[in-house]
Amino acid sequence: MQAALAIIGEDLKLVERQFRKDLQSDVPLIRKVGEYVLSSGGKRVRPALLLLAARLSDYAGDKAVPLASVIEFIHTATLLHDDVVDSATLRRGLASANTLWGNEASVLVGDFLFSKSFSLMVNVGSLDILRVLSDATTVIAEGEVMQLLCTGEMDLTEDRYIKVVRSKTAILMSAACEAGAILGAVPQSQQQALADFGMDLGIAFQLMDDILDYVATEEEFGKCIGHDLEEGKITLPLIHTLKQCSDSERALIAAVVEKDEMSLGDFRAVSGIVKQYGGIAYTVEAALSYINRCKNHLDLFAPSPVRDALLSLSEYIVTRSK
Ligand code: IPE
Ligand code: IPE
Ligand code: MG
Ligand code: MG
Repeated sequence: MQAALAIIGEDLKLVERQFRKDLQSDVPLIRKVGEYVLSSGGKRVRPALLLLAARLSDYAGDKAVPLASVIEFIHTATLLHDDVVDSATLRRGLASANTLWGNEASVLVGDFLFSKSFSLMVNVGSLDILRVLSDATTVIAEGEVMQLLCTGEMDLTEDRYIKVVRSKTAILMSAACEAGAILGAVPQSQQQALADFGMDLGIAFQLMDDILDYVATEEEFGKCIGHDLEEGKITLPLIHTLKQCSDSERALIAAVVEKDEMSLGDFRAVSGIVKQYGGIAYTVEAALSYINRCKNHLDLFAPSPVRDALLSLSEYIVTRSK
């Protein structure tokens, strides 16, 4: 991450400024909620990917910063909606927007951010980029709906789960990388390589998120631990465990998945079983293999400090604790 910051640190500051400017609205609640989520400090992984992909593609124009802001707009909109759907109370170590302003405000401000991101994309003036980003937002919505349909599904397969992950999370990282490549007008093969890089990196990113939901500390992660389980989300650590465990362990897990409220004892019991059957280790291995795959896509680019920064960003994804 340090290598990435050294190269795009200045641009990321410009993105923050742009983001704040793009947030302006005559409606005070939009500014208030927007400012709150903006200053709560996300990691800015998606803008970083877009900026680095643009640099790797030798783009030196002035459209990367506004587009990086758009990507973070889209991401922020999905978080506002996602926290409503997931009944999340904590985000980035702070009370989530739905906790402070209610579900209605979160959904509507999320809508504002989505709609505004399309106006901002049009201003950038590239139909190809508009296509990539608008397709991505459609796929994210499909991913969130698929996830909803998989809730509490004890027989969810790894393949189906990875499909959800590609859609809800990885597609936006892929689109960020592809948009950077389009700005730089690199050949189609390199555009595809960057899109694939973002996709594999995004899958690893979500798998790490799923692991952290079992093993992180709330202070570091900034989100409630065990919340996936409480919400009946069957993520890869649990999918792997459910394939190995005994009937009685399966029944115990099913009971916790079905409960509306989970006790600390319930969480400890299930996470103990998950660890016992290597669910965490299995998911770490899966994330590492996606990271290795993602790095290989960059072979199509000559070695450079920017390529190294993207490689180290991908390392960071599988070692992060928040
Ligand atoms: C959270 O994304 C949503 C997931 C895809 C897991 P991030 O972990 O990138 O969120 P922030 O922006 O850094 O808070
Ligand atoms: C993230 O899914 C995907 C989107 C926000 C679209 P999660 O529900 O796993 O993300 P967190 O854990 O709430 O950040
Ligand atoms: Mg969520
Ligand atoms: Mg999560």
